[in-house]
Amino acid sequence: MSEMKSEQLEREMIRIGKTLINQFFVLLKTAQNYEEGHSATNAPTSNILKIVREIHRRNEEASLRVKGGYLLLGELRLKPDAAGFDAFMFTMGEMKRYFIGAINFTPSTSAEEIGRFAYVFRDVEPIPSPQTYQKLIEKMHHGNILGIEMESLSEEEGYGEGDDAVELKDSKVRAKKVYLQTIHAVSDVMENAKMGQTLKLRKSKRVVQGMIDQLLAAETNLIGLTTIRSHDEYTYNHSVNVCILSLAIGQRVGLSKGSLCELGMSALFHDIGKSEIPLEILNKPTEFSKEEWEAMQRHPIHGVKKLMKLKGLDALSARIITGAFEHHLNYDFSGYPKVPSYTNLSLFGRIISLADCYDGLTSSRVYSRVPYPPDKALRFMMNRAGKAYDPILLKLFINCIGIYPVGSLLLLSTKELAVVMQNNPDPGKWSTPRVKIIADADGNEVDGEMVDISDPEAGRAIVETLDPQKYKIDVTRYFV
Ligand SMILES: [Fe+2]
Ligand SMILES: [Fe+2]
Repeated sequence: MSEMKSEQLEREMIRIGKTLINQFFVLLKTAQNYEEGHSATNAPTSNILKIVREIHRRNEEASLRVKGGYLLLGELRLKPDAAGFDAFMFTMGEMKRYFIGAINFTPSTSAEEIGRFAYVFRDVEPIPSPQTYQKLIEKMHHGNILGIEMESLSEEEGYGEGDDAVELKDSKVRAKKVYLQTIHAVSDVMENAKMGQTLKLRKSKRVVQGMIDQLLAAETNLIGLTTIRSHDEYTYNHSVNVCILSLAIGQRVGLSKGSLCELGMSALFHDIGKSEIPLEILNKPTEFSKEEWEAMQRHPIHGVKKLMKLKGLDALSARIITGAFEHHLNYDFSGYPKVPSYTNLSLFGRIISLADCYDGLTSSRVYSRVPYPPDKALRFMMNRAGKAYDPILLKLFINCIGIYPVGSLLLLSTKELAVVMQNNPDPGKWSTPRVKIIADADGNEVDGEMVDISDPEAGRAIVETLDPQKYKIDVTRYFV
């Protein structure tokens, strides 16, 4: 598309967005003054519906979103002009007061529903808090309003520039937030969100982008978060971890931001086909029977079908689907599913399979009872370089997570315990990371110093890696 044309389209969308805000403002004001069902609401509701249809006809998202102090239509920032100023400020103000981050009108919404929506605000005290938002959601639920979706305000938008905002500037907190947001988004999509897949998917895309920004800014923190383990949320944890690790490899390979986003989406949903596998198989604590194993091995195929069904994702390209399909094929095609005609694994497939295996080995999901410590997992994978894994990518992977990956628990020659906080950027010093001492030689917990093991003055060497779970140490808390 020529630049001029896209500029013109953008101007059109901004104009449409302003009309939407204006009519929304009229509707809310009318609802404040008239009882539900009054004919005065007819004009604004049918106008809103017309605008929403027009937006969908253009394949855009009919959502109003509060972000960074701006009001957005989809991803497009709207600026108030003199004529629309009141409507603009009112809409943004109301959204903030009710702790609403986004309102999305889906294609299934009706004029009648929009009319009812205007009344969910009644009798709800506009105190900006997650509870207020929750009340609205409940009222929407009761009113059977399905064609309009909302997202809550993110905390930093909601609480403004107070102490919280200062704290959020701390990269650790931000990293954790991104991690949790991603878990949330992936669970939304995987819990079979029938309504509004578009919104959920776009949300996933946004969180992946957030993750990429994080990674480019402070890689270590995000990778540290992959030490978060939880049994019941295994699949989501795993998906997010695989996403982070894949992005870290992708970044080393030098992928562009756009490609990283695709890779991240592919990694995030690589196991989406598992939602088709019965839970009793998925969570089975003992070995699989032959039939169960076969069922399990079909998850990449289910995944392709599911991903192809997810609508409204213009960017859900073949690359994303292929990456998910290939994640168990193996470098030498010894994996599954069996596809005789396959001759080439995509880069995404090779990257995701590395990240997937590493996270699988080091976490204690139900069907692998003994998690490997990171260095053992890497050694296991090294032994399969050129067979299961692309040898060059595996080297890159080790390069980026280190032989003692961030989050590893170490026993030092001084009998102290330490957690790996950061890897040495110099490949020659991979075996000597920066660590934080967390227990003294007598086993007393301490908030110890940071030590660079490569520094001879430090007088410490690594004896071995320990399993944090065995020692009941939650290494995650050093990163969040
Ligand atoms: Fe898988
Ligand atoms: Fe997986």
